Amino acid sequence: MMADPASLTDIRACVFDAYGTLFDVAAAASRSSPALDGRHQELSALWRSKQLEYTWLRSLRGDYVDFWHITGEALDFAMASLGFEDPALRTRLMELYFTLDAYPEVPHTLRRLRAAGLRCAILSNGSPSMLIAAVQQAGLEDDLDEAISVDPIGIYKPHPSVYQLAVDRLRVEARQICFLSSNYWDVSGAAYFGFRVVWINRSGARRDPTPGEPEFEVTSLDALPALLGIAEGEANDV
Ligand code: LAC
Repeated sequence: MMADPASLTDIRACVFDAYGTLFDVAAAASRSSPALDGRHQELSALWRSKQLEYTWLRSLRGDYVDFWHITGEALDFAMASLGFEDPALRTRLMELYFTLDAYPEVPHTLRRLRAAGLRCAILSNGSPSMLIAAVQQAGLEDDLDEAISVDPIGIYKPHPSVYQLAVDRLRVEARQICFLSSNYWDVSGAAYFGFRVVWINRSGARRDPTPGEPEFEVTSLDALPALLGIAEGEANDV
């Protein structure tokens, strides 16, 4: 259900999930499609689901390792499951994951938000070096105020202390942060924490029945400026 347009008022900052929201997590496997015998979508889906599962497992067990390490463990599981035993392919896939492409609408959307006076930041499970590499690859260095990693606190989303990091680093109240994610579990966790949330439902996914719901659901970041009341060529009154 969509709320009325431009009801996201009193927003001071936009905080973005990284993987799947700004950066295309399927790009690494799809660029290696020939080496994966056309099974890149299968590999990509298993890689991603195991990567997330391991963040939750590690967080519950209290044995944090950084997201790069977890990404490698998940790739090992996915490759072994699909019968790929190829160290050079593993290295190539990890290299590609380090420098993923941004979705096409990301640069111009960030520029419009910042031109309207909003601060823009990433809040991600990604390790600091992964986030720096992805931001540089996409040429977004000048379009973001911060790239905040969970690494200093050693626990993964959706633990509330992760969302609190953005409040502390940006020095704005949770209700003044618009959080954007394509991952429903992250959307739900962020809304439950107290952010104003827009779900970037790129894949037509179904909602989980967990408490914490987005105020808006859109299919790409292109819709965001209008939701924030930013007209074409106008500055926002923030
Ligand atoms: C992130 C993952 C969860 O960037 O998408 O935090």
